Amino acid sequence: MSSRPATAPVSAGGSALLPRHVAIIMDGNGRWAKKRHLPRIAGHRQGVEAVRRVTRAARAMGIEALTLYAFSSENWRRPEDEVSDLMGLLRLFIRTDIDEMVRENVRLRVIGDYRRFSPDLVALVEDAIARTAANDGPILVIALNYGAQAEIAAAARRLAEKARDGTIDPAMIDEAAIEAELDTSDLPPLDLLIRTSGEIRLSNFLLWQAAYAELLFVDTLWPDFDAATFADAVAAFSSRQRRFGGL
Ligand code: IPE
Ligand code: IPE
Ligand code: MG
Repeated sequence: MSSRPATAPVSAGGSALLPRHVAIIMDGNGRWAKKRHLPRIAGHRQGVEAVRRVTRAARAMGIEALTLYAFSSENWRRPEDEVSDLMGLLRLFIRTDIDEMVRENVRLRVIGDYRRFSPDLVALVEDAIARTAANDGPILVIALNYGAQAEIAAAARRLAEKARDGTIDPAMIDEAAIEAELDTSDLPPLDLLIRTSGEIRLSNFLLWQAAYAELLFVDTLWPDFDAATFADAVAAFSSRQRRFGGL
């Protein structure tokens, strides 16, 4: 093979290497609140502020795509009150921030099975996506009711259906065919995956896409994450040497 893998980072104006696609597991809201003897919702509220800071910072740096893990398919296991608080904050975030996204040429996207949310939230999300669909600037992807294993299973199911219907030959199912069925198929390859709060696990996030991403685990709790910590993370990425199996 002589071609360079698609996952190779691009150069930012000939200077430091900038990741094209950064994903963040935004973790530690509850612990941030606990440290302050506040209810968990207070941590989630501050987490939304961190989302605003980081999306603006990523935009200013010229990151093409930013994917944020906001609600996992396992987060339904939390107490009903907390789930409903998170849904409330999501509603508020979309209502408050959609105008800025439209104005700043941001394309909003969602990955995950968000249609399981309440009908009003589904409508709100779809309206927001539609309002930014004609934009051609940075992509903000929010992972809602997302689970990587379910995403891969759904891809396998669709390929099996196509094979059954005779539209594809099972022998032709390769990595690219699976990738084309994932929620992320039209996003740039994942370059950098960050998890905050000191936990060192992926919690069912972008398992396929992370195959050759650089992983960064930082101790900062998500509500404390800001433009400077984001810039540090990008700098850490820039200093890594990626080999993609070569030398
Ligand atoms: C991340 O913070 C936010 C979501 C999972 C929605 P947590 O709520 O997981 O915070 P910790 O891990 O309990 O501190
Ligand atoms: C992962 O964080 C999910 C999100 C950040 C949305 P969790 O806090 O839910 O993950 P675990 O339970 O510690 O693995
Ligand atoms: Mg957590």
